[in-house]
Amino acid sequence: MSEPLVSCNKVTRRFGGLVANDSIDMTIARGEILGLIGPNGAGKSTLFNLIAGAFPPSSGTITFEGGNVTALPATERCVRGIARTYQVPRSFDSMTVVENVIVGAFVRHPRAAQARAKALDVLDYVGLMTQANVPAADLTPPQKRRLEVARALATEPKLLLLDEVLTGLTPSESRAGAELIRKIRDSGVTVVMVEHVMEVVMPLVDRAVVLNLGKVLAEGAPKDVVRDENVIAAYLGDRHRAA
Ligand SMILES: Nc1ncnc2c1ncn2[C@@H]1O[C@H](COP(=O)(O)OP(=O)(O)O)[C@@H](O)[C@H]1O
Ligand SMILES: [Mg+2]
Repeated sequence: MSEPLVSCNKVTRRFGGLVANDSIDMTIARGEILGLIGPNGAGKSTLFNLIAGAFPPSSGTITFEGGNVTALPATERCVRGIARTYQVPRSFDSMTVVENVIVGAFVRHPRAAQARAKALDVLDYVGLMTQANVPAADLTPPQKRRLEVARALATEPKLLLLDEVLTGLTPSESRAGAELIRKIRDSGVTVVMVEHVMEVVMPLVDRAVVLNLGKVLAEGAPKDVVRDENVIAAYLGDRHRAA
């Protein structure tokens, strides 16, 4: 078996008395789309923050490509190839769309002209080329999510963490978003996506990990996870029929 891209080993994160991630053991395989699902407050965004290095775990270790990255700052993890989007889009609203993406492109292209060329390539790739020169503030919510994805992709990641990028989209927008995610994976980037819309997530992911109360509740093929009684009780409820 090949070595996992990411390995979380007994990863725990406390906020005061609250245990947001509780001894999580999880791997991310190279080349997969992994769905990270579970109810609000389950600890999904916290786990993304820990993998991307926004803050360190209270205990446990995280490896990336076999190296221990637990103590590395986010900037260093970005250089190694970990990129993420935020659940609440964080675009620089006073800057243009292409300038926002250039911020990501500078990670690998310190010269402005090359960073700009890279950013324009990525905007074309995600379908935002016609908006390149408008202020980010003028984008629609689904376009803002694409911009988040573009800025992350511009860093040329090996691992892309997508936090609810399809949430709040219309069915046709979310189908288009799913197509983009598949295209990103097919280009060789490993993807982990947090998402609630089961009809969209389950056909898209190779594997699903379900978090509940900070712990891994279930893990496996989408078709098995949606039939798991514990998952239905804790999270899916009526959603499982749709999935
Ligand atoms: N920075 C933080 N400070 C304090 N509590 C936090 C912080 N981030 C998350 N939490 C808490 O940790 C728990 C898990 O949150 P989160 O990881 O955002 O869940 P999810 O993304 O699954 O909805 C929640 O109870 C949340 O309030
Ligand atoms: Mg979240």
